[in-house]
Amino acid sequence: MAVKKELNIGIVGYGFMGRTHSNAFLQAPRFFPLAYRPVLKSVCARNADRARGFAENWGYESIETDWKALIDRKDIDLIDIASPNDTHAEIAIAAAKAGKMVLCEKPLGRTVDEARAMVDAVGSAGVPNLVWYNYRRVPAMTLLKQLLDEGRFGRIFHYRSQFLQDWTISQDLPQGGEGLWRLDSAIAGSGVTGDLLAHNIDMAQWLNGPIVEVTAVTETFIKERKHNLTGRVEPVRIDDASAFLCRFANGSLAVFEATRYARGHKALFTVEINGEKASASWDLHDLHRLNYFDHRDEGQLRGWKSVHVTDGDHPYMKHWWVPGLQIGYEHTFIHQAADFILALGEGRAAAPTFRDGLATDRVTEAVLKSAKTGQWEKVAAA
Ligand SMILES: NC(=O)c1ccc[n+]([C@@H]2O[C@H](COP(=O)([O-])OP(=O)(O)OC[C@H]3O[C@@H](n4cnc5c(N)ncnc54)[C@H](O)[C@@H]3O)[C@@H](O)[C@H]2O)c1
Repeated sequence: MAVKKELNIGIVGYGFMGRTHSNAFLQAPRFFPLAYRPVLKSVCARNADRARGFAENWGYESIETDWKALIDRKDIDLIDIASPNDTHAEIAIAAAKAGKMVLCEKPLGRTVDEARAMVDAVGSAGVPNLVWYNYRRVPAMTLLKQLLDEGRFGRIFHYRSQFLQDWTISQDLPQGGEGLWRLDSAIAGSGVTGDLLAHNIDMAQWLNGPIVEVTAVTETFIKERKHNLTGRVEPVRIDDASAFLCRFANGSLAVFEATRYARGHKALFTVEINGEKASASWDLHDLHRLNYFDHRDEGQLRGWKSVHVTDGDHPYMKHWWVPGLQIGYEHTFIHQAADFILALGEGRAAAPTFRDGLATDRVTEAVLKSAKTGQWEKVAAA
């Protein structure tokens, strides 16, 4: 067997996403035929002891405590940004300037201005780039994309999508600092709009094309919380819930909703699309099933079917076990790493690129603007 070229990785952040990405880099070459072998060169985080523990657990060769030192290293080809949203733009732009490939967690920027600067930086440097919108790589979602591209649905009338959680209902939950930076607008940029709806929007524009205008409402249910870093009770500036109506360029209408106040729901990401000839629906709690209705089926037996997306001819599945056996959440990251490295080997870009990430940020920014103005807002053209 030919010796694979090495792809030397430096990752920033050892939290939730640091773990999913590290697992993905380790597993991708074991299950997919890749021209490059990811090498876990270094993990960067500010706490050296914890970075060392993470490095030992996942097999990183070294640690750094300053991302600038990570970018300066000649033995690193790719910078993977798995740290909070306020770090994305600065690190990505510096990494691109240093000629590194850049992978970045979502949302790409906290604002459209940040995201645009990131797109410009990777464009000028000519470096491969990717945003970790991993849900595109759920096999049921990739299958839905294929069915839509085959034209099976005919004209699309409706799209609806939710992302429901319930983990911030308690008034006693503080904001800011480790684990709770999502409630701090300075770090996160926005609340559920940038954190959750960004996933729904990336998926929607991938499946159904560009969103052109939106009208939105947001709410912050708990107005003040103790801030972990200052110790003071401070105003909460993120949106706790966000809902919007929109029009797509293809003429279809949509309803989107995200909240962290839907008691009983943990990560209920849903998608439904209704076309002239067919409909489909999916949710993350049952991620291996695609529900499909085809109006062309025989009259009396026409109905919704629940397709268990685990067969060898379903997207990605031939690389896993035998038909009927499910895969899960972590595999979406493995698929994304594999797709990036496959594309790299073939000299093409893997989606979603930074430009796609910017397209999502343009919609989230229009949603937040509409919630303030109370008006329909156009989504700025790319
Ligand atoms: N794709 C997804 O489904 C998904 C899911 C969760 C989070 N995210 C995104 O991933 C990013 C990280 O989220 P998370 O849940 O992993 O957060 P986390 O709080 O679990 O981990 C963040 C990590 O970043 C480190 N960090 C913070 N500032 C740093 C700095 N200046 N230099 C180096 N390290 C720094 C922290 O020490 C920590 O290790 C966010 O942008 C978030 O929106 C994406």
